[in-house]
Amino acid sequence: MENQYIIKGGTPLRGEVTISGAKNAALGILAAAIMTDETVLIDNLPNVRDINVLLSAIESIGATVNRIGPHEVEINGSTITDVTVDDDFIRKIRASYYLLGALLGKYNKAKVALPGGCDIGSRPMDQHLKGFRALGATVNMGFGMIDTHADVLTGNHIFMDVVSVGATINIMLAACMAEGKTVIENAAKEPHIVDVANFLNSMGANIKGAGTDKIRIRGVEKLHASEYSIIPDQIEAGTFMVAAAATKGDVLIKNVIPKHLEAISGKLTEIGATVEEFDDAVRVHCTERLHHTQVKTSPYPGFPTDMQPQIATLLALSDGTSTVTESIFENRFKYVDELMRMGANIKVEGNVAIIEGVGGLTGASISAPDLRAGAALVVAGLVSEGYTTVDSIQYIERGYECFEDKMTALGAYMDKIPVDDDRAIQKFKLKVG
Ligand code: EPZ
Repeated sequence: MENQYIIKGGTPLRGEVTISGAKNAALGILAAAIMTDETVLIDNLPNVRDINVLLSAIESIGATVNRIGPHEVEINGSTITDVTVDDDFIRKIRASYYLLGALLGKYNKAKVALPGGCDIGSRPMDQHLKGFRALGATVNMGFGMIDTHADVLTGNHIFMDVVSVGATINIMLAACMAEGKTVIENAAKEPHIVDVANFLNSMGANIKGAGTDKIRIRGVEKLHASEYSIIPDQIEAGTFMVAAAATKGDVLIKNVIPKHLEAISGKLTEIGATVEEFDDAVRVHCTERLHHTQVKTSPYPGFPTDMQPQIATLLALSDGTSTVTESIFENRFKYVDELMRMGANIKVEGNVAIIEGVGGLTGASISAPDLRAGAALVVAGLVSEGYTTVDSIQYIERGYECFEDKMTALGAYMDKIPVDDDRAIQKFKLKVG
Protein backbone atom coordinates (compact mmCIF):
# COMPACT_ATOMS: atom_id res chain seq x y z
CA MET A 1 0.00 0.00 0.00
CA GLU A 2 1.31 3.42 -0.90
CA ASN A 3 1.80 5.86 1.93
CA GLN A 4 1.89 9.63 2.25
CA TYR A 5 2.96 12.08 4.90
CA ILE A 6 0.45 14.35 6.52
CA ILE A 7 1.84 17.41 8.24
CA LYS A 8 0.36 20.25 10.23
CA GLY A 9 2.78 23.13 9.93
CA GLY A 10 3.70 25.94 12.25
CA THR A 11 5.52 24.24 15.12
CA PRO A 12 9.16 25.16 15.74
CA LEU A 13 11.35 22.05 15.89
CA ARG A 14 13.04 21.68 19.28
CA GLY A 15 15.17 19.00 20.88
CA GLU A 16 17.76 16.52 19.71
CA VAL A 17 17.99 14.31 16.66
CA THR A 18 20.53 11.60 15.91
CA ILE A 19 21.78 11.33 12.35
CA SER A 20 22.05 7.92 10.66
CA GLY A 21 24.97 6.55 8.67
CA ALA A 22 25.69 8.07 5.28
CA LYS A 23 23.61 6.42 2.56
CA ASN A 24 25.96 7.29 -0.27
CA ALA A 25 29.02 6.05 1.63
CA ALA A 26 27.20 2.88 2.66
CA LEU A 27 26.31 2.06 -0.94
CA GLY A 28 29.99 2.12 -1.97
CA ILE A 29 31.06 0.26 1.16
CA LEU A 30 28.51 -2.55 0.76
CA ALA A 31 29.67 -3.12 -2.81
CA ALA A 32 33.31 -3.07 -1.67
CA ALA A 33 32.51 -5.63 1.04
CA ILE A 34 31.96 -8.39 -1.52
CA MET A 35 35.54 -8.00 -2.76
CA THR A 36 37.00 -10.20 -0.03
CA ASP A 37 36.23 -13.86 0.63
CA GLU A 38 36.45 -13.19 4.35
CA THR A 39 33.60 -11.87 6.52
CA VAL A 40 33.13 -8.13 6.81
CA LEU A 41 31.08 -6.47 9.56
CA ILE A 42 29.58 -3.08 8.76
CA ASP A 43 28.05 -0.89 11.42
CA ASN A 44 26.13 2.43 11.44
CA LEU A 45 24.33 1.32 8.30
CA PRO A 46 21.33 3.55 7.51
CA ASN A 47 18.13 1.53 7.44
CA VAL A 48 16.78 3.02 4.21
CA ARG A 49 15.31 1.63 1.02
CA ASP A 50 18.32 2.04 -1.31
CA ILE A 51 20.54 0.14 1.14
CA ASN A 52 18.05 -2.70 1.41
CA VAL A 53 17.79 -2.93 -2.38
CA LEU A 54 21.56 -3.13 -2.74
CA LEU A 55 21.77 -5.78 -0.02
CA SER A 56 19.21 -7.96 -1.81
CA ALA A 57 21.16 -7.55 -5.06
CA ILE A 58 24.31 -8.65 -3.25
CA GLU A 59 22.42 -11.65 -1.90
CA SER A 60 21.02 -12.44 -5.35
CA ILE A 61 24.51 -13.14 -6.73
CA GLY A 62 25.21 -15.61 -3.93
CA ALA A 63 27.00 -13.52 -1.29
CA THR A 64 26.03 -14.27 2.29
CA VAL A 65 24.26 -11.34 3.90
CA ASN A 66 23.53 -11.57 7.60
CA ARG A 67 21.52 -8.61 8.82
CA ILE A 68 22.44 -8.61 12.49
CA GLY A 69 20.27 -5.59 13.24
CA PRO A 70 18.78 -2.58 11.45
CA HIS A 71 22.18 -0.85 11.45
CA GLU A 72 24.57 -3.76 11.29
CA VAL A 73 25.28 -6.31 8.59
CA GLU A 74 27.77 -9.09 8.01
CA ILE A 75 28.71 -9.87 4.43
CA ASN A 76 30.73 -12.76 3.08
CA GLY A 77 31.62 -12.69 -0.60
CA SER A 78 33.16 -16.18 -0.79
CA THR A 79 29.82 -17.72 -1.75
CA ILE A 80 29.29 -15.53 -4.86
CA THR A 81 28.31 -17.73 -7.78
CA ASP A 82 27.27 -15.18 -10.37
CA VAL A 83 28.63 -11.89 -11.70
CA THR A 84 25.37 -10.89 -13.39
CA VAL A 85 23.18 -8.49 -11.44
CA ASP A 86 19.77 -7.87 -12.91
CA ASP A 87 16.45 -7.50 -11.19
CA ASP A 88 13.62 -5.00 -11.18
CA PHE A 89 14.75 -3.39 -7.96
CA ILE A 90 18.39 -2.90 -8.83
CA ARG A 91 17.36 -1.02 -11.96
CA LYS A 92 15.76 1.59 -9.71
CA ILE A 93 18.85 2.57 -7.74
CA ARG A 94 21.89 4.43 -8.94
CA ALA A 95 24.44 2.65 -6.84
CA SER A 96 23.96 -0.66 -8.62
CA TYR A 97 26.87 0.60 -10.71
CA TYR A 98 29.24 0.03 -7.79
CA LEU A 99 28.74 -3.70 -8.27
CA LEU A 100 30.36 -3.29 -11.69
CA GLY A 101 33.57 -1.90 -10.18
CA ALA A 102 33.55 -4.35 -7.28
CA LEU A 103 32.90 -7.49 -9.36
CA LEU A 104 35.25 -6.38 -12.12
CA GLY A 105 37.97 -5.70 -9.54
CA LYS A 106 37.51 -9.07 -7.85
CA TYR A 107 36.63 -11.44 -10.70
CA ASN A 108 37.75 -9.47 -13.78
CA LYS A 109 34.19 -9.59 -15.07
CA ALA A 110 30.76 -8.17 -14.31
CA LYS A 111 27.40 -7.70 -15.98
CA VAL A 112 25.04 -5.25 -14.31
CA ALA A 113 21.72 -3.70 -15.32
CA LEU A 114 22.04 -0.04 -16.31
CA PRO A 115 21.37 2.00 -13.21
CA GLY A 116 18.27 4.09 -12.48
CA GLY A 117 18.09 6.42 -9.51
CA CYS A 118 16.41 9.76 -8.98
CA ASP A 119 15.37 11.59 -12.13
CA ILE A 120 17.41 14.72 -11.58
CA GLY A 121 18.93 15.07 -15.02
CA SER A 122 20.93 13.01 -17.46
CA ARG A 123 23.30 10.80 -15.55
CA PRO A 124 25.91 9.44 -17.97
CA MET A 125 28.47 6.80 -17.00
CA ASP A 126 31.17 7.64 -19.53
CA GLN A 127 33.74 8.45 -16.83
CA HIS A 128 33.17 5.14 -15.05
CA LEU A 129 33.60 3.25 -18.31
CA LYS A 130 36.60 5.33 -19.35
CA GLY A 131 38.22 4.30 -16.06
CA PHE A 132 37.46 0.61 -16.51
CA ARG A 133 38.82 0.71 -20.06
CA ALA A 134 41.99 2.48 -18.88
CA LEU A 135 42.54 -0.45 -16.51
CA GLY A 136 42.36 -2.83 -19.50
CA ALA A 137 38.72 -3.89 -19.42
CA THR A 138 36.44 -4.28 -22.41
CA VAL A 139 33.03 -2.70 -21.93
CA ASN A 140 29.91 -3.48 -23.97
CA MET A 141 26.40 -2.15 -23.53
CA GLY A 142 23.23 -3.75 -24.80
CA PHE A 143 19.80 -5.00 -23.74
CA GLY A 144 19.85 -2.67 -20.74
CA MET A 145 23.04 -4.18 -19.35
CA ILE A 146 26.66 -3.13 -19.01
CA ASP A 147 28.99 -6.04 -19.62
CA THR A 148 32.65 -5.68 -18.74
CA HIS A 149 35.56 -8.10 -18.56
CA ALA A 150 39.34 -8.14 -18.66
CA ASP A 151 42.05 -10.78 -18.96
CA VAL A 152 44.01 -8.82 -16.46
CA LEU A 153 43.45 -5.41 -14.87
CA THR A 154 46.51 -3.17 -14.91
CA GLY A 155 46.95 0.13 -13.07
CA ASN A 156 46.94 3.30 -15.15
CA HIS A 157 46.93 7.10 -14.96
CA ILE A 158 43.33 8.26 -15.34
CA PHE A 159 42.28 11.89 -15.74
CA MET A 160 38.58 12.42 -15.03
CA ASP A 161 36.95 14.87 -17.46
CA VAL A 162 34.26 15.73 -14.89
CA VAL A 163 34.37 15.49 -11.13
CA SER A 164 32.20 12.46 -10.44
CA VAL A 165 31.51 10.83 -7.08
CA GLY A 166 30.29 7.60 -8.65
CA ALA A 167 33.12 7.27 -11.17
CA THR A 168 35.79 8.01 -8.56
CA ILE A 169 34.45 5.29 -6.23
CA ASN A 170 33.92 2.82 -9.06
CA ILE A 171 37.46 3.23 -10.36
CA MET A 172 38.87 2.87 -6.82
CA LEU A 173 36.94 -0.40 -6.52
CA ALA A 174 38.12 -1.75 -9.87
CA ALA A 175 41.73 -0.66 -9.31
CA CYS A 176 42.41 -1.79 -5.76
CA MET A 177 43.38 -5.31 -6.84
CA ALA A 178 44.72 -4.39 -10.31
CA GLU A 179 48.37 -5.00 -11.06
CA GLY A 180 50.58 -2.00 -10.32
CA LYS A 181 49.72 1.61 -9.63
CA THR A 182 46.62 3.62 -10.57
CA VAL A 183 46.38 7.38 -10.27
CA ILE A 184 42.97 9.09 -10.48
CA GLU A 185 43.37 12.79 -11.28
CA ASN A 186 40.53 15.31 -10.86
CA ALA A 187 38.93 12.89 -8.42
CA ALA A 188 35.82 13.81 -6.39
CA LYS A 189 36.60 14.76 -2.77
CA GLU A 190 33.29 14.09 -1.01
CA PRO A 191 33.42 12.63 2.53
CA HIS A 192 31.97 9.38 1.23
CA ILE A 193 34.92 8.96 -1.17
CA VAL A 194 37.20 9.09 1.86
CA ASP A 195 34.97 6.68 3.76
CA VAL A 196 34.96 4.09 0.96
CA ALA A 197 38.76 4.43 0.63
CA ASN A 198 39.19 4.04 4.41
CA PHE A 199 37.03 0.95 4.35
CA LEU A 200 38.99 -0.58 1.44
CA ASN A 201 42.24 0.22 3.28
CA SER A 202 40.86 -1.47 6.40
CA MET A 203 40.49 -4.58 4.19
CA GLY A 204 44.14 -4.33 3.11
CA ALA A 205 43.92 -2.08 0.05
CA ASN A 206 46.58 0.56 -0.51
CA ILE A 207 44.79 3.82 -1.38
CA LYS A 208 46.31 7.21 -0.66
CA GLY A 209 45.07 10.73 -1.26
CA ALA A 210 41.29 10.13 -0.98
CA GLY A 211 39.76 13.50 -0.11
CA THR A 212 42.15 15.31 -2.47
CA ASP A 213 41.84 15.52 -6.23
CA LYS A 214 44.61 12.97 -6.78
CA ILE A 215 44.06 9.44 -5.53
CA ARG A 216 46.92 6.92 -5.74
CA ILE A 217 46.15 3.22 -5.56
CA ARG A 218 48.71 0.45 -5.43
CA GLY A 219 47.06 -2.84 -6.33
CA VAL A 220 47.15 -5.60 -3.71
CA GLU A 221 46.69 -9.30 -4.31
CA LYS A 222 43.68 -9.75 -2.09
CA LEU A 223 41.53 -8.07 0.52
CA HIS A 224 40.71 -9.43 3.97
CA ALA A 225 38.13 -9.27 6.78
CA SER A 226 37.29 -5.97 8.41
CA GLU A 227 34.95 -4.32 10.90
CA TYR A 228 33.90 -0.84 9.92
CA SER A 229 31.54 1.91 11.03
CA ILE A 230 30.08 4.21 8.36
CA ILE A 231 30.37 7.99 8.71
CA PRO A 232 27.25 10.06 9.51
CA ASP A 233 25.07 11.30 6.68
CA GLN A 234 26.02 14.85 5.77
CA ILE A 235 22.81 15.43 3.79
CA GLU A 236 20.42 14.06 6.41
CA ALA A 237 22.18 16.33 8.92
CA GLY A 238 21.94 19.30 6.55
CA THR A 239 18.23 18.64 6.02
CA PHE A 240 17.57 18.79 9.77
CA MET A 241 19.70 21.94 10.03
CA VAL A 242 17.55 23.63 7.39
CA ALA A 243 14.35 22.32 9.01
CA ALA A 244 15.44 23.78 12.37
CA ALA A 245 16.14 27.16 10.77
CA ALA A 246 12.98 27.19 8.63
CA THR A 247 10.68 26.46 11.57
CA LYS A 248 12.49 29.01 13.80
CA GLY A 249 13.42 26.17 16.08
CA ASP A 250 16.37 25.05 18.17
CA VAL A 251 17.76 21.62 17.38
CA LEU A 252 20.87 19.75 18.46
CA ILE A 253 21.85 17.50 15.57
CA LYS A 254 23.95 14.65 16.95
CA ASN A 255 26.30 12.09 15.41
CA VAL A 256 27.67 14.39 12.71
CA ILE A 257 31.12 15.45 11.55
CA PRO A 258 30.82 19.27 11.65
CA LYS A 259 33.65 19.65 9.11
CA HIS A 260 31.49 17.89 6.49
CA LEU A 261 28.73 20.44 7.10
CA GLU A 262 30.80 23.60 6.68
CA ALA A 263 29.25 24.71 3.38
CA ILE A 264 25.77 24.33 4.87
CA SER A 265 26.65 25.91 8.24
CA GLY A 266 28.30 28.79 6.36
CA LYS A 267 25.18 29.57 4.33
CA LEU A 268 22.86 29.28 7.33
CA THR A 269 25.04 31.65 9.33
CA GLU A 270 25.26 34.06 6.41
CA ILE A 271 21.48 34.37 6.20
CA GLY A 272 21.06 34.92 9.94
CA ALA A 273 20.66 31.54 11.67
CA THR A 274 22.93 30.57 14.55
CA VAL A 275 25.02 27.43 14.13
CA GLU A 276 27.09 26.17 17.04
CA GLU A 277 29.62 23.41 16.42
CA PHE A 278 30.57 20.73 18.94
CA ASP A 279 32.86 17.71 18.53
CA ASP A 280 30.22 15.48 16.99
CA ALA A 281 27.11 17.66 16.95
CA VAL A 282 25.81 20.96 15.63
CA ARG A 283 23.08 23.10 17.17
CA VAL A 284 20.99 25.26 14.87
CA HIS A 285 18.69 27.87 16.27
CA CYS A 286 16.87 30.77 14.79
CA THR A 287 14.44 33.36 16.06
CA GLU A 288 14.51 36.12 13.43
CA ARG A 289 13.36 36.15 9.85
CA LEU A 290 16.32 35.12 7.66
CA HIS A 291 17.67 37.08 4.70
CA HIS A 292 18.49 36.44 1.07
CA THR A 293 21.72 35.11 -0.42
CA GLN A 294 23.23 33.44 -3.46
CA VAL A 295 23.89 29.71 -3.50
CA LYS A 296 25.72 27.77 -6.20
CA THR A 297 26.07 24.01 -5.99
CA SER A 298 29.46 22.49 -6.68
CA PRO A 299 31.42 19.35 -5.80
CA TYR A 300 32.71 19.04 -2.21
CA PRO A 301 33.80 21.16 -0.40
CA GLY A 302 31.30 23.38 -2.23
CA PHE A 303 27.59 23.59 -1.46
CA PRO A 304 26.12 20.10 -2.12
CA THR A 305 23.61 19.63 -4.91
CA ASP A 306 21.83 17.22 -2.56
CA MET A 307 21.00 20.22 -0.32
CA GLN A 308 19.84 22.50 -3.13
CA PRO A 309 16.05 21.96 -2.80
CA GLN A 310 16.19 22.31 1.00
CA ILE A 311 18.12 25.61 0.98
CA ALA A 312 15.88 26.95 -1.81
CA THR A 313 12.84 26.19 0.36
CA LEU A 314 14.39 28.11 3.23
CA LEU A 315 15.23 31.06 0.98
CA ALA A 316 11.65 31.06 -0.32
CA LEU A 317 10.75 32.22 3.21
CA SER A 318 13.64 34.64 3.68
CA ASP A 319 13.68 38.39 3.06
CA GLY A 320 14.64 39.70 -0.37
CA THR A 321 15.69 38.12 -3.64
CA SER A 322 17.91 35.04 -3.58
CA THR A 323 19.38 33.01 -6.40
CA VAL A 324 20.14 29.31 -6.37
CA THR A 325 22.32 28.01 -9.21
CA GLU A 326 22.38 24.27 -9.85
CA SER A 327 25.61 23.36 -11.57
CA ILE A 328 25.68 19.55 -11.19
CA PHE A 329 22.32 18.20 -12.44
CA GLU A 330 20.13 20.00 -14.96
CA ASN A 331 16.76 18.72 -13.79
CA ARG A 332 16.82 19.43 -10.11
CA PHE A 333 14.16 22.13 -9.87
CA LYS A 334 11.14 19.88 -10.26
CA TYR A 335 9.95 20.72 -6.75
CA VAL A 336 9.57 24.42 -7.62
CA ASP A 337 6.05 23.99 -9.06
CA GLU A 338 4.98 22.27 -5.86
CA LEU A 339 6.48 25.04 -3.70
CA MET A 340 4.68 27.64 -5.82
CA ARG A 341 1.42 25.83 -5.11
CA MET A 342 2.19 26.45 -1.46
CA GLY A 343 2.66 30.16 -2.11
CA ALA A 344 6.38 30.49 -2.91
CA ASN A 345 7.48 33.00 -5.53
CA ILE A 346 10.21 31.36 -7.63
CA LYS A 347 11.16 31.71 -11.28
CA VAL A 348 13.48 29.19 -12.87
CA GLU A 349 15.68 30.39 -15.73
CA GLY A 350 17.93 27.66 -17.06
CA ASN A 351 19.91 26.38 -14.11
CA VAL A 352 19.11 29.35 -11.87
CA ALA A 353 16.15 29.71 -9.52
CA ILE A 354 15.31 33.31 -8.71
CA ILE A 355 13.52 33.36 -5.40
CA GLU A 356 11.50 36.29 -4.04
CA GLY A 357 11.05 35.61 -0.35
CA VAL A 358 7.40 35.47 0.78
CA GLY A 359 5.90 36.02 4.23
CA GLY A 360 4.62 32.46 4.60
CA LEU A 361 3.44 29.31 2.83
CA THR A 362 0.10 27.56 3.00
CA GLY A 363 -0.47 23.81 3.18
CA ALA A 364 -1.38 21.88 0.01
CA SER A 365 -1.49 18.37 -1.42
CA ILE A 366 1.87 17.89 -3.07
CA SER A 367 4.02 15.16 -4.50
CA ALA A 368 7.71 14.37 -3.92
CA PRO A 369 9.46 14.43 -7.31
CA ASP A 370 12.69 12.86 -6.00
CA LEU A 371 14.54 12.14 -2.77
CA ARG A 372 16.01 15.50 -1.74
CA ALA A 373 13.21 17.54 -3.31
CA GLY A 374 10.77 15.38 -1.34
CA ALA A 375 12.60 16.17 1.90
CA ALA A 376 12.53 19.87 1.03
CA LEU A 377 8.76 19.73 0.50
CA VAL A 378 8.35 18.13 3.93
CA VAL A 379 10.28 21.09 5.37
CA ALA A 380 7.90 23.38 3.46
CA GLY A 381 4.95 21.52 5.01
CA LEU A 382 6.43 21.97 8.48
CA VAL A 383 6.41 25.76 8.11
CA SER A 384 3.14 26.11 6.21
CA GLU A 385 -0.13 27.27 7.63
CA GLY A 386 -2.58 24.37 7.87
CA TYR A 387 -2.27 20.84 6.55
CA THR A 388 0.03 19.46 3.87
CA THR A 389 0.03 16.00 2.39
CA VAL A 390 3.12 14.76 0.56
CA ASP A 391 2.75 11.68 -1.60
CA SER A 392 5.32 9.58 -3.51
CA ILE A 393 7.22 9.34 -0.25
CA GLN A 394 8.91 6.18 -1.48
CA TYR A 395 11.50 8.61 -2.89
CA ILE A 396 12.10 10.15 0.52
CA GLU A 397 12.37 6.72 2.11
CA ARG A 398 15.24 5.89 -0.23
CA GLY A 399 17.49 8.08 1.86
CA TYR A 400 15.89 9.23 5.13
CA GLU A 401 15.59 6.75 7.97
CA CYS A 402 12.40 7.09 10.08
CA PHE A 403 11.95 10.63 8.76
CA GLU A 404 8.51 11.13 10.31
CA ASP A 405 9.60 9.65 13.67
CA LYS A 406 12.66 11.91 13.86
CA MET A 407 10.52 14.95 12.98
CA THR A 408 7.78 14.13 15.49
CA ALA A 409 10.39 13.59 18.22
CA LEU A 410 11.34 17.23 17.58
CA GLY A 411 7.75 18.32 18.07
CA ALA A 412 6.53 18.32 14.47
CA TYR A 413 2.97 17.32 13.74
CA MET A 414 3.61 14.72 11.08
CA ASP A 415 2.47 11.18 10.39
CA LYS A 416 2.72 8.51 7.73
CA ILE A 417 -0.67 7.29 6.58
CA PRO A 418 -2.02 5.37 3.58
CA VAL A 419 -2.72 7.44 0.46
CA ASP A 420 -6.43 8.29 0.04
CA ASP A 421 -7.28 7.18 3.55
CA ASP A 422 -9.71 9.91 4.58
CA ARG A 423 -10.31 8.35 7.97
CA ALA A 424 -6.57 8.45 8.74
CA ILE A 425 -6.53 12.12 7.71
CA GLN A 426 -9.48 12.90 9.99
CA LYS A 427 -7.86 11.00 12.84
CA PHE A 428 -4.63 12.99 12.42
CA LYS A 429 -6.54 16.26 12.35
CA LEU A 430 -8.44 15.35 15.52
CA LYS A 431 -5.19 14.37 17.24
CA VAL A 432 -3.26 17.54 16.42
CA GLY A 433 -6.20 19.92 16.72
C1 EPZ B 1 26.22 10.84 -6.45
O1 EPZ B 1 25.60 10.58 -7.70
C2 EPZ B 1 25.14 10.69 -5.41
N1 EPZ B 1 24.58 9.35 -5.50
C3 EPZ B 1 24.08 11.75 -5.64
O2 EPZ B 1 23.18 11.67 -4.55
C4 EPZ B 1 24.70 13.15 -5.65
O3 EPZ B 1 23.71 14.08 -6.03
C5 EPZ B 1 25.85 13.20 -6.64
O4 EPZ B 1 26.79 12.13 -6.38
C6 EPZ B 1 26.61 14.52 -6.60
O5 EPZ B 1 27.12 14.73 -5.31
C7 EPZ B 1 25.22 8.33 -4.93
O6 EPZ B 1 26.25 8.47 -4.30
C8 EPZ B 1 24.57 6.99 -5.07
P1 EPZ B 1 28.27 12.24 -10.04
P2 EPZ B 1 26.48 10.30 -8.98
O7 EPZ B 1 28.82 11.11 -10.84
O8 EPZ B 1 27.68 9.51 -8.55
C9 EPZ B 1 28.34 14.04 -14.49
C10 EPZ B 1 21.11 11.68 -3.48
O9 EPZ B 1 20.15 12.50 -3.42
N2 EPZ B 1 28.88 12.73 -14.91
O10 EPZ B 1 29.13 12.87 -9.01
O11 EPZ B 1 25.57 9.73 -9.99
C11 EPZ B 1 26.89 13.97 -14.03
O12 EPZ B 1 26.01 14.06 -15.12
C12 EPZ B 1 21.79 11.39 -4.78
O13 EPZ B 1 21.53 11.05 -2.49
C13 EPZ B 1 29.31 12.54 -16.20
O14 EPZ B 1 29.25 13.45 -17.04
O15 EPZ B 1 26.91 11.77 -9.37
C14 EPZ B 1 26.80 15.14 -13.10
O16 EPZ B 1 26.60 16.32 -13.83
C15 EPZ B 1 21.11 11.98 -5.95
N3 EPZ B 1 29.83 11.33 -16.55
C16 EPZ B 1 28.18 15.21 -12.46
O17 EPZ B 1 29.03 14.46 -13.34
C17 EPZ B 1 29.95 10.30 -15.68
O18 EPZ B 1 30.43 9.22 -16.05
C18 EPZ B 1 28.29 14.63 -11.07
O19 EPZ B 1 27.74 13.33 -11.03
C19 EPZ B 1 29.51 10.49 -14.36
C20 EPZ B 1 28.97 11.71 -13.99
